[in-house]
Amino acid sequence: MARIELRSIQKFFGAVQVLKDVNLTIEDGEFVVMLGQSGCGKTTTLRAIAGLETVSSGTISIDGREVQDLRAADRDIAFVFQSFSLYPHMTVYENIAFPLRAVGMSQDQREAAVREVAKVLGIERLLNRKPSALSGGDMQRVAIGRALVRRPKALLMDEPIGALDAKLREQMRAEIKRLHIARNSTSVYVTHDQIEAMSLADRIVVMHGGLLQQVGAPEEVYNRPANLFVAQFVGSPVMNVSGVAIEGGAGAAVLSFGQGAGIPVAGGHVGHIPGGKAVKLGIRPEAVLLRHEPGEGFVETTTTNVEPLGSHEIVDVRLGETTLRARVEPGFVADGQRVWVGLDPQRAHFFDGETGLALRRTA
Ligand SMILES: Nc1ncnc2c1ncn2[C@@H]1O[C@H](COP(=O)(O)OP(=O)(O)O)[C@@H](O)[C@H]1O
Ligand SMILES: [Mg+2]
Repeated sequence: MARIELRSIQKFFGAVQVLKDVNLTIEDGEFVVMLGQSGCGKTTTLRAIAGLETVSSGTISIDGREVQDLRAADRDIAFVFQSFSLYPHMTVYENIAFPLRAVGMSQDQREAAVREVAKVLGIERLLNRKPSALSGGDMQRVAIGRALVRRPKALLMDEPIGALDAKLREQMRAEIKRLHIARNSTSVYVTHDQIEAMSLADRIVVMHGGLLQQVGAPEEVYNRPANLFVAQFVGSPVMNVSGVAIEGGAGAAVLSFGQGAGIPVAGGHVGHIPGGKAVKLGIRPEAVLLRHEPGEGFVETTTTNVEPLGSHEIVDVRLGETTLRARVEPGFVADGQRVWVGLDPQRAHFFDGETGLALRRTA
């Protein structure tokens, strides 16, 4: 187990800067997920921690000791890659035991260590097989077993289940979480899949363009996104974002969507927003409310699309220049029907129209 600290990390490949001042502390025993789209620098960060890549500047510490100049082999960190990287000519047992060769354990100790991880991973019955006789999920279980058998200080995983089909990914997600709880190893996990991030992480690190956008618990990243990028990257369907003008004063205000369409909200919900600023409203589909009849805070509109998804439906409604997507019960409304739309002001997010930074209530 280990505490990992990244301080002012920069990384250039030639003239291209792919990491721009990355600062992050990963606590001992924590499960941190780095989330971001392809090319944002996740793998480079992970490889830098492991020592598979050098950094251009900054420091990396493990348990207070600077390691940026140490070789990968001297950092005691294990790495699981997305591609199945098993030795094809060795059995599962030999693959898992391989990292123990250099450690100077007795045969008995090695066998006990291999059997223990195989048991945790549920692959004891596969120990005599060759990798070619394994399913994709089992290959990745073996790769994780090989990474864990030495009891490394930390386990780094780079999209370890990204190549598996959807059903298996769901199952493996649960297994990886269980494994983390059982081993309590410091884990850093990279993915572009927000559901994986939400379900696995103690804390999520949202990355974009070589910069950390937000670091926080899953519910914090979801409920209090620091900026528009995070707001729209996390959550499915995507958070509605619309330019709004805030009209009216302290008592009552109207969020104007243009073309005379506006939704009234109590002034307290927008009192923290400086006047005269270009503002974006962010509202998740579950906080867009639809009704079949008029009501206070609701305005009349027409549905323009209905997407049935089994457990719920996503309904599009037009409001001025904006289309808002709402999440409703199945069968709630048909396409082209009249409805009244309102917002849950407690779950409305406002962002600076220029910087994209969240405008937060201070109180
Ligand atoms: N060895 C390399 N040489 C040059 N550019 C690289 C190298 N490795 C990665 N990059 C570039 O660095 C950026 C970040 O890559 P990476 O860390 O792999 O992103 P991610 O894992 O988030 O998809 C990308 O633009 C990628 O093309
Ligand atoms: Mg990558």
